[in-house]
Amino acid sequence: MAKEYTNGDITILWQADKCIHSEICIKGLPRVFDNSKRPWIDLKGASSRDIVNQVRKCPSGALAVKDDKTTKFSSMENATIAGTKPVMVDLEAGKTYAWCACGKSSNQPWCDGSHQTTQFRPLIIKTMEPSKASLCMCKQSGSRPYCDGTHNKLTS
Ligand code: FES
Ligand code: FES
Repeated sequence: MAKEYTNGDITILWQADKCIHSEICIKGLPRVFDNSKRPWIDLKGASSRDIVNQVRKCPSGALAVKDDKTTKFSSMENATIAGTKPVMVDLEAGKTYAWCACGKSSNQPWCDGSHQTTQFRPLIIKTMEPSKASLCMCKQSGSRPYCDGTHNKLTS
């Protein structure tokens, strides 16, 4: 169940059970996100635009902007093609990974927060056993974050 915080302009949703404690929000906007205070979110600490941009960096989706696609800060661009072939990665057991869905990250295939000005959010991968995965780099797969061969249909 998401908690809602609003400043009358935007509404931020908070789902504690999704949080992976990256603390990106606390480091990025400490006047808004401060877990030593209650409530820990104070939307008076920054402009709506800055808050929306910060919330979009949340790698787990624990923080979200309500009705994000309709906010005046939204953008409807397509995912950027980061590569035309999948990348094979080794996944460690129990570790949380954030796969870049927007294609803009400089640290492919992982999210680096560059999705903040887009409607995209990273997808979280967590495995219980060490494994290998073929991750989509074209960002068009129907089985994201995994490659499903869609890259073969892309025209340059
Ligand atoms: Fe985060 Fe692409 S940089 S989804
Ligand atoms: Fe995207 Fe294969 S790299 S579907």
